[in-house]
Amino acid sequence: MSIFDRFSLEGRVALITGGGRGLGFEIARAFAEAGAHVVVTGRTAATLDRAVAAITGNGGSAQAAVFDVADIGAGRAMIAEISKTRGRLDILVNNVGARDRRPLAAFNDDDILDLIRTDLLSAISLSRDAAEIMKAQGHGRLIAVTSIVGEMARPGDAIYPAAKQGLTGLMRSIAVEYGAHGVTSNAIAPGMFATETNAAMAANPDLVAFARQRVPLQRWGRPQEIAGAALFLASDAASFVNGHVLTVDGGMSIQM
Ligand SMILES: NC(=O)c1ccc[n+]([C@@H]2O[C@H](COP(=O)([O-])OP(=O)(O)OC[C@H]3O[C@@H](n4cnc5c(N)ncnc54)[C@H](OP(=O)(O)O)[C@@H]3O)[C@@H](O)[C@H]2O)c1
Repeated sequence: MSIFDRFSLEGRVALITGGGRGLGFEIARAFAEAGAHVVVTGRTAATLDRAVAAITGNGGSAQAAVFDVADIGAGRAMIAEISKTRGRLDILVNNVGARDRRPLAAFNDDDILDLIRTDLLSAISLSRDAAEIMKAQGHGRLIAVTSIVGEMARPGDAIYPAAKQGLTGLMRSIAVEYGAHGVTSNAIAPGMFATETNAAMAANPDLVAFARQRVPLQRWGRPQEIAGAALFLASDAASFVNGHVLTVDGGMSIQM
């Protein structure tokens, strides 16, 4: 077996939340190219249909699942359905993350709970159900897309970082609880990526200049630049990587 074979996902079934566009789509596209059947999720059927068409048009295998991750019951039903119809679930990428930039004092408790439900509770629930399926299989890969935010902080942005740090703790806890069953659990912490959602910010001259100054690579990340990290963690190439946070930020978080 060559080192390239160890990056193959042939025969694997992968679920990527928020896989219709942005970083999630690039992860799904890479997994499909590496041989996995991918299930992309999101709230908008048309976005997912476009993603599935792009992946299958390139020779990949993909399907869509429309639901809001905040609907915990819908997520659980979808995991059960995939493992029943495909016979397995090898990779779960918890990629959805909503952000609400406001001073902490401007949040009421319901706002906080809504954000935590979407960013953290959903991932805890999906990870729990996926980890049990993976344990029974004796193989699995759990990946959370977190953020460098949380390790780093700015005013007016408290709940999202709290959820992302919670996700990091979750992935590490699962790493030690399920490692003996062949299940690894890791996180990817992106820096600034010029996804569709961030298009206006990435085109803002002030934020282009900010990236030039603050990121050693002097630019925003391109969405496809997340794919290599995700494929690595999902593949046999990372068979002994467990409980790790792989930062993909052009060096932003380590520059003095
Ligand atoms: N982009 C960055 O610079 C950056 C930096 C650090 C961390 N991250 C993290 O990386 C992840 C992906 O970021 P992104 O910029 O690619 O995200 P995005 O563009 O905001 O969204 C990606 C996908 O998530 C889906 N989605 C959003 N809310 C959902 C919900 N409640 N239920 C189901 N699906 C939902 C969206 O589809 P629908 O709208 O159709 O539901 C979309 O397809 C997020 O967790 C984000 O926090 C991003």
